[in-house]
Amino acid sequence: MKGIFITFEGIDGCGKSTQTALCREWLESLGKTVLLVREPGGTRIGEKIRELLLDKANGAMAPMAELFLFEAARAQIVEETIKPALAEGKAVICDRFFDSSFAYQGCARGLGAEMVSRINKDATGGLAPDITFFLDITVDQAIMRREGRGGEKDRIESAGDAFQEKVRQGFIRAASEDSRIVTIDASDSPEVIFKQIQEKIEALI
Ligand code: TYD
Repeated sequence: MKGIFITFEGIDGCGKSTQTALCREWLESLGKTVLLVREPGGTRIGEKIRELLLDKANGAMAPMAELFLFEAARAQIVEETIKPALAEGKAVICDRFFDSSFAYQGCARGLGAEMVSRINKDATGGLAPDITFFLDITVDQAIMRREGRGGEKDRIESAGDAFQEKVRQGFIRAASEDSRIVTIDASDSPEVIFKQIQEKIEALI
């Protein structure tokens, strides 16, 4: 039995957490065993790397160091968690995966889309999601949501609105280059968004 690998992407504040939770509940109601993980993190080693990446005290981090830390956390979660779960036939939902490196490090940090795509492939040993949902909202909409949510901004969230706009353009580019990525208008209500996600997954399983 082969599992299914679903990822969610978008700029900070796009509503991924709500949708990943709805997706988990729904797949479980269909009798599937679901593993919901987030990147960076999801393993003991990955959570340590996450702390390094998000800590505001690490403002001096070089973009290339940032990329390799994300890729290191990714390589770990793929080997330790995602591949075994898929081999057991589980549905794996990942809150961010390698398209985030494409958009944040490749496009927004300016490291280059081609180079990051190549490293993405190496870090995952060629494992790619079966389907990816890009929850697309404008930077202004995301700011309003984040304000509603409160809480302190982490190092990457603090990079500014122009940075977030570049990230968004990076995701738009990724989606235009790969039919695996489904773009969803994330300014709709959570119910309307989830219905579209459900339909796409139903067509796959
Ligand atoms: P997180 O708190 O998980 O953000 P969110 O709730 O928005 O998913 O923090 C992860 C941050 O790391 C987020 O700002 C996106 C960024 N990121 C990258 O820059 N590159 C990557 O490859 C990944 C996975 C995340």
